[in-house]
Amino acid sequence: MSESTVLPVVRLCAVTAETAWDVFELSETLSAEQRNMVADNAESIAEAHFSDRAWYRAISADGELAGFLMLHVGADEEIDCPGVFLWRLMIAGPYQGRGIGRRVIESLVEYLRTRGIHELHASHGDGPGSPESFYTALGFVPTGEHYGEDHEVGVVLRW
Ligand SMILES: CC(C)(COP(=O)(O)OP(=O)(O)OC[C@H]1O[C@@H](n2cnc3c(N)ncnc32)[C@H](O)[C@@H]1OP(=O)(O)O)[C@@H](O)C(=O)NCCC(=O)NCCS
Repeated sequence: MSESTVLPVVRLCAVTAETAWDVFELSETLSAEQRNMVADNAESIAEAHFSDRAWYRAISADGELAGFLMLHVGADEEIDCPGVFLWRLMIAGPYQGRGIGRRVIESLVEYLRTRGIHELHASHGDGPGSPESFYTALGFVPTGEHYGEDHEVGVVLRW
C-alpha cells in the first residue's frame, strides 16, 4: 500500500424503511457471476426475519451506501457453525476494489476481539465470480467444513 493510499471510512448502519429499497437495489450492481455467489439483499433481509441468529447492516463507505453484511451467530439447522459466521457480504459493483470489503472485515475483527471472540467463519462458492481470492488475501484458511448442501467451502480467520 502506498503512503498516499486513503483508507475508506466504513460504517455499519441499520437498514431502515428509508434505506431498504436502496439496499435491495445494490444487488443489481453485481455481475451475473457474482450474483451466483451471494443472495440478493432483499432475500437476505427476508431470511433474517425468520432467523433469531441473523444480524445485518448496510455498509457505508465515506458516507455513501456501498454494501450489505449479514452475520449468523451460533449454530442452528440453517448454518451448523458454533460461532460468528459471515453469512452474507456484498460490496456494490462500483465500490469494489477500493479496500472497502477489507475494512469491513477488519472492523468486524476489531469489534469481535473486544467481545472475547477470536475467530470469524465464512464460506464461498467456486468458479467464475468466486470471492475465494478475497478471503485468501485477508488471511482466511479452509476449515474442511462445507455448507449450503456442500456447495460452499468453509473458511476461517483466526486472531
Ligand atoms: C468479495 C467482495 C466482498 C470483495 O469486496 P471488495 O471491497 O471489492 O474487496 P477489497 O477491495 O477490500 O479487496 C481486498 C483484497 O481482496 C482481493 N480481492 C477482492 N476481490 C477479489 C477478487 N474477486 N479476486 C481476487 N482478489 C480479490 C483484493 O485484491 C484485495 O487484496 P489486497 O488488499 O491484498 O490488494 C466483493 O467483490 C463482492 O461483493 N463480491 C460479490 C459478492 C460475494 O462474492 N460476496 C462474498 C460471498 S458471500
